Amino acid sequence: MDRNAVVLPGGMTSTNRKVDRPLVFTAARGADVVDADGRTYVDYNCAFGATLLGHCQPAIAKAVFDTMNGGIDLIGLSATSLEGELAARIVASVPSAEQAMFVNSGSEATFHALRLARAVTGRQQIVKFQGSYHGWHDYVAMNVATPRDAIGSKHLLSAGVLPAASNATTVARFNDVEALDQLLRRSGHDIAAIIIEPIQHNIGSVVATATFLQALRQKTREHGVVLIFDEVVTGFRHGLGGYQEICGITPDLTTLGKAMANGMPIAALVGKRELMERCAPPPTGDVMIAGTYNGAPACVAAALKTMDLLDAAAYDHLYRLGETMRSGLQDIFDRLSVPAQAAGFGSVWLPYFFSGDFLRYEDLLANDDSMDRAFRAGMIDRGFLTTPTPLKRYNFSVAHNAEHVARTLEAAEDVVRALRGAPSREIVT
Ligand SMILES: Cc1ncc(COP(=O)(O)O)c(C=O)c1O
Repeated sequence: MDRNAVVLPGGMTSTNRKVDRPLVFTAARGADVVDADGRTYVDYNCAFGATLLGHCQPAIAKAVFDTMNGGIDLIGLSATSLEGELAARIVASVPSAEQAMFVNSGSEATFHALRLARAVTGRQQIVKFQGSYHGWHDYVAMNVATPRDAIGSKHLLSAGVLPAASNATTVARFNDVEALDQLLRRSGHDIAAIIIEPIQHNIGSVVATATFLQALRQKTREHGVVLIFDEVVTGFRHGLGGYQEICGITPDLTTLGKAMANGMPIAALVGKRELMERCAPPPTGDVMIAGTYNGAPACVAAALKTMDLLDAAAYDHLYRLGETMRSGLQDIFDRLSVPAQAAGFGSVWLPYFFSGDFLRYEDLLANDDSMDRAFRAGMIDRGFLTTPTPLKRYNFSVAHNAEHVARTLEAAEDVVRALRGAPSREIVT
C-alpha cells in the first residue's frame, strides 16, 4: 500500500474505494478476493455490484479472450456486428429500450441522458432526488448521504464543480408526491428531465413506492419532462428487464452499467426511438455521444455472455440468497434485541441500525452510524469484505452460495453480540 500511496493519490484511483485500513488486493475468484498478505475474504462489495456472476467468471473470461484472440478488437469506425447484437438483446429485454448507445461508465450514461433530455425539450433544469447517486459529473454529483445539517441545501460531492452546472439541478424529496406536484406546477416548464434510482441502492435500499412512481410517470408526461430511470445498479442485477419491468413503469430513457458485463467497462443509454435518434451522427441527429472506447468489442462480448448466463436459475439463486440473508440477519437482531433491521431487495442486503419505517434518506438519519461502522469493521475482521461506510449495500453474486450465507450469519451474530450493549462511541473503529 505504501508504494501505491506514493504514485496514486491516497493510494487508489477512485474516491469511492476508500477502506479503513491499508488493503491491497492481488486476486479475485468467484465469491472471494485475496489481499497482499494472502488473506481471503468473502466479497460482498462485488465491485459495487458489477461482478454479478462472480469474479473472473470463466465464461466471461473466455468471451473476452476469444474476442481478442483471432476475433476482433477496437476498430473505432462505424460499428461492429457485436454492438448491433447487444443492442437487439437489450431492446428485447428492457421495456423502455427501443434503441441503445454504448459508453464506458454509468456516469457517462447519465451525463448523456441529461444532455439528450435538454436537447429534446429545449429546457435546462434537471431534478434529482436526495439520496440518489448518478455519477461523478457536475450535473449530479451532489446530495447522496448528505450530513443532517446540509439537508435541504445543495451539498456538492466535489470541489471544482461548475456552479452554472450544479445550479441547474434541483434536489427533490424522494417518495413525496405532494412535493413533486408542487415542483412541477411551479417549474415544470423549465425542467428537462427528472432522473431517479427507482431503488436508492446508494443509501442501501430505499424503494420508490408504486404510488410515487405512477405519479412521477403521469406528471412528467403532463409537463413534457423526460423521465430517466437510472438503472446502473438495478439493471441486470434485479432482472434482465431492470427494475422497470418489475414495477411496471416505463421511463423515457434508462441508464445501465455495472453488472452489464460482469465488471468489464461498458454502460448504456437506452430509450424511446424518437429521443434516441437525436444521438445519430449529423445530419440526422444533433446530440453528441462520442468515445474512443464506446462499444469496445471485448466489453460487448462480455455483456452478451453475461446476458446469456443471467437465466431464470441465476435470478432464482440470487433472490434466494438475498431472502435467506435478510431473514437470518433479522432473526439475529430480534433474538438479541438490537434495534436494527435487515433491508434490501433481491440480491442486495444490508443492516440498518434503527427501527421504524423508511421512505427516504431523511428517515435514515436515525441510523446509528457508529454501530454500522463497527458492524462492517467486525465483519471485515472476520473475513467478510464490504465498504466500511454506513448505509452502503452488500451485494451477492451468483458465485455466492448457501454456505457463504451460513458463515456470514454466524460471523454477523458474533459481531452483533460483541457490539450489543456497548456504548456506540466506544465501538468506533
Ligand atoms: C445508480 C448509479 N448511477 C450511476 C453511477 C455511476 O456509474 P460509474 O461509477 O460507472 O460511473 C453509479 C455508480 O455507483 C450508480 O450507482
